[in-house]
Amino acid sequence: TAKTIIAPSVLSCDFSRLGDEVEAVARAGADWIHLDVMDGHFVPNITFGPPVIKTIRDRTDKVFDCHLMIAPADPYLAAFADAGCDIITVHAEAGPHLDRSLQAIRSLGKKAGVSLNPSTPESVIEYVLDRLDLVLLMTVNPGFGGQAFISAVLDKVRRVKALVGQRPIDIEIDGGVTPETAPLVTAAGANVLVAGSAVFKGGIEAAYRANIGAIRQA
Ligand code: DX5
Ligand code: ZN
Repeated sequence: TAKTIIAPSVLSCDFSRLGDEVEAVARAGADWIHLDVMDGHFVPNITFGPPVIKTIRDRTDKVFDCHLMIAPADPYLAAFADAGCDIITVHAEAGPHLDRSLQAIRSLGKKAGVSLNPSTPESVIEYVLDRLDLVLLMTVNPGFGGQAFISAVLDKVRRVKALVGQRPIDIEIDGGVTPETAPLVTAAGANVLVAGSAVFKGGIEAAYRANIGAIRQA
């Protein structure tokens, strides 16, 4: 099987040094950079948007994996594409027209993802499978880093894996990923792990390298 992709979330980095943190975590072994965009409406927190992403785009060649926790998302998709996001993921719960949102992302030349909150059943992706490059399953309620892993979602990971079948769709897990929970989600079928607090704890590049290594080894 292919190697597990580790996507550190900058939500847990030092935002006053965002560009340097992205460079440091890229050097420390990150495969992708996970960008958590929050609007204070779909989720109870506010982070950053396209102008900030644009300022860090030239700091690394790594894939920018953009997780939009915003509603509506459609009016902003082009701005996130222009800012340099490679994968753009919308929440199924954030709008009534998931099929349209996914088509819009692909027509911008980007990879299209859908994210599901812990309580959302996997059946919502059944009729859009051929428009998807990635499914992002939340293992916490979105909005904050450092929350506890919700293990009920493991069953959903297995079901999504079965639904996806042979299609080239990544299955990504977000929330509470640590060296303890990582083996559970990879065994269930996930191939991309987002980790925020578990990667950025320690605050320096050597710590990030050790933290990523610990997740990878697990
Ligand atoms: C939560 C975000 C996650 C978060 C994960 O809304 O989507 O990406 O940063 O943080 P940890 O890994 O600390 O649970
Ligand atoms: Zn995220």
